[in-house]
Formats: sequence, structure tokens, C-alpha cells
Amino acid sequence: MNTPGRITLHDKSFEINIPERQLLQASEILGARISADYKDKKPLFLAILNGAFMFAADLMKEINIPCEISFLRVSSYQDMYSTGQVTEVIGLKEDIRNRHIIILEDIVDTGHTVYALLQNLITKEPASIKIATLLLKPDCVQHPLQVKYIGKSIPNDFVVGYGLDYNGLGRNLRDIYKVIAD
Ligand code: IMP
Ligand code: MG
Repeated sequence: MNTPGRITLHDKSFEINIPERQLLQASEILGARISADYKDKKPLFLAILNGAFMFAADLMKEINIPCEISFLRVSSYQDMYSTGQVTEVIGLKEDIRNRHIIILEDIVDTGHTVYALLQNLITKEPASIKIATLLLKPDCVQHPLQVKYIGKSIPNDFVVGYGLDYNGLGRNLRDIYKVIAD
């Protein structure tokens, strides 16, 4: 049985949480802010795959200044010779030296991913580097991160849809859904 506004992915049920209309509104507001802040700076957006693809597409339509976009992946793995997580940046072809960089993320949770990416990109000497995320879980962030552009802050719930997945499923959903505790 399907209840309206509810879906099941793998073993979990989700209910609608943020409708598409609000997600598009968030992109509209962020797009206007970024366009004003980066006038004459020809920013390079770096969108993090897979999750940020839908946010990146809608945000880009709201940017009305000259800009570029590229997509990259961040993969983290356990180094066999140390205890730390190693984060590798895959797919960055552009020379970012002296460029104004805006990282596009779907969600900042602990902040591990975006923090590690920042440390990596800073060594390539960009002119500036800022983070834009559709969603932020402020109670979960574990790093000294300044997230300049936030679409929406949310509580510590697991969410899917609009690019975000639960074990591969749910990225195609137009709206954001949150898990229903069982
Ligand atoms: P972080 O490194 O903990 O900030 O989280 C990084 C990545 O985990 C995000 O880019 C997402 O891909 C994924 N993630 C974190 N929270 C959620 C969630 O609630 N739903 C789906 N993916 C999530
Ligand atoms: Mg992601």
C-alpha cells in the first residue's frame, strides 16, 4: 500500500520533508547572492558527485554572471600505513590557481568530506574558496568550517531525494524525504 507523500527504499520508509518548490526557492536565493558577490570574478563552481548534481543544475540556472562549472569526486579510504582517513580528489582537470572557487555540496553532515576537500584544494593556491551547500546539519558538524552559502539547515535526520541517496536509491526524487524511525 502506498500512502501519499511516503516512499520505501530498501528496508526503510521515508516521508516528504522539503518539497521541490522550497528547494528551487533556496537555489533562487543562493543564486542571486552568489551572482552579486562574484560579479566580475568569473567563479569556478566545483560540484561534488554524485549527490550535488541536481542542486548544481538548478543553482546554475540562477547564476547570471560569467562562470564555469566542473564536477569532481571525493573518495576516502583507510591508509594501510597510518590510522587516518585519506581523502583523494578525483576528476579535477582545471588549474584552480588564482581562481575563485565555490564548492557545491548536497549536504554537510559531519563536514569530513568538505573539510578534507578544502585542505586539498587550498594547496593549489586558488584566489578564494567558499562552500555552498543545499543542506546543512548544524548539530553534526565536527570541523571548524565556514559554510558561506546554506540553502537550508535541517535537524539530524537522514534524508534522501533531489540527488541524495540511501544505498544508491532515491537520487531521482524531486522532493527531499526524511526517514521515519521504526
Ligand atoms: P559528511 O562528510 O559527514 O559531511 O557527509 C558527506 C556526505 O555524506 C554527503 O555529501 C552525502 O553524500 C552523505 N550524507 C550525509 N548525510 C546524509 C543524509 O542525510 N542523506 C544522504 N546522504 C547523506
Ligand atoms: Mg555528497
